[in-house]
Amino acid sequence: MKEINENISILENIISIIDKDVPLISNLANLSYVLKFYFKNTDWAGFYLTQNDVLYLGPFQGDLACTIIPFNKGVCGKAAHLKQSILVPNVHEFEGHIACSSSTNSEVVVPIIKDNKVIGVIDLDSNLIDNYTIEDVKILESIANVIAGLF
Ligand code: SME
Repeated sequence: MKEINENISILENIISIIDKDVPLISNLANLSYVLKFYFKNTDWAGFYLTQNDVLYLGPFQGDLACTIIPFNKGVCGKAAHLKQSILVPNVHEFEGHIACSSSTNSEVVVPIIKDNKVIGVIDLDSNLIDNYTIEDVKILESIANVIAGLF
């Protein structure tokens, strides 16, 4: 049974929790828990996965969420389209933000890129305004690199 070790970094935890012998979806399910645990005041943490240039809801921890996000729509679609992380301190000021929950106030989305293609995104939402930092984005980008290796 694997457990989170709070004495090591989230990246080290993620590497140790990933099980290469199980399907991708099983690993992403556990990683959504790890993300919600580590990034404080996160109310929703999960993945959207690309299929035919559309993002579909993947494993997550949190409330019900929208299941389909076209590339370039919302924060997730925009990050996927631009192949860039997007940090949104206040979702109410982001044009086109898709509100899956009315209580969300800040969000960060990081694309998972393999062979120059966006195969999915990591999405974290918080009910607090300005919950995420540039440092969080950097950590999430390292995590996204590790996850890209699973695809
Ligand atoms: N807010 C996201 C949609 C996904 S939910 O936050 C889980 C967006 O604008 O793309």
